[in-house]
Amino acid sequence: MSTRTIRWSCLAAFMLAFLGCGDASDPSGDATQSVALQNTDHPAANQYATQCLSCHGGDGLGQEALEAPALTTLDPTYIARQLRHFRDGVRGGHPEDTAGSIMAAASANLDDPAIEALASYVDSLPNALPATTLSGDLAQGKDYHLNLCSACHGSNGLGNAALEAPALTGLNDWYLMAQYEKFREGIRGAHPDDRWGVQMVRLAPAISDTDILESIATYLATQPPSD
Ligand code: HEC
Ligand code: HEC
Repeated sequence: MSTRTIRWSCLAAFMLAFLGCGDASDPSGDATQSVALQNTDHPAANQYATQCLSCHGGDGLGQEALEAPALTTLDPTYIARQLRHFRDGVRGGHPEDTAGSIMAAASANLDDPAIEALASYVDSLPNALPATTLSGDLAQGKDYHLNLCSACHGSNGLGNAALEAPALTGLNDWYLMAQYEKFREGIRGAHPDDRWGVQMVRLAPAISDTDILESIATYLATQPPSD
């Protein structure tokens, strides 16, 4: 990290009223809590630092305490679509979607060029795996993933751009479970303009057993985050 980068991250941390710089603000030493801003030369770095970093982290790996997910393996087309959907009430507008409403508020002031620039910035962050929190059955998870999910999300879980199905590898295990349950309950994906989410709403009843879902999330959270 260059001196300039360090100064930048201290400034960003100061602006966001964090207690210190980088990992120093996190006594547990958990890397997912890092606040250091990366790729400071990117045109959207400043906007990410002021509007996104406090929840998603400088490394884009998210923070479970805030229900903010990791973003690093998502492709920019998917990220931009989600930001537009949050902003336009297509995602996060359901009365029971507490976490979604937080993100809807965080994207309310973004115009389309800002969304494209932020998606490009997030895409520039190195792909990485967030810390795991679940301990489901890996073999069972692999089996279910290959049979029920891989046709759209890819056998390696890295997504399929042609089908607009995002990467599941690189998501937080707790986030994957929460989103799946939201699709199943019609809390995400039920908006009439959400033609991608509705695919998940149709599929989600396939798994109602929490242990099976946990095993899929556990398996995907341990797979390599890039080819
Ligand atoms: C106050 C905290 C907060 C801030 C600030 C915030 N987010 Fe989020 N973000 C969340 C939460 C919580 C979710 C999960 C929403 C859900 O469960 O549906 C989320 C979800 C997302 C998603 C969807 C990820 C996926 O896998 O579908 C993207 C993309 C995203 N945020 C990008 C951003 C960007 C870019 C910014 C800055 C403009 C930002 N967020 C600012 C809390 C935040
Ligand atoms: C018919 C294709 C299809 C199948 C099969 C499928 N998905 Fe999806 N999935 C999608 C699409 C398309 C999206 C993007 C929805 C959107 O844009 O909001 C998605 C989104 C998701 C998300 C949200 C990711 C995020 O970052 O927020 C999760 C979690 C998910 N799928 C899990 C699964 C699991 C687990 C399985 C297998 C049990 C599965 N999917 C099977 C098409 C599919």
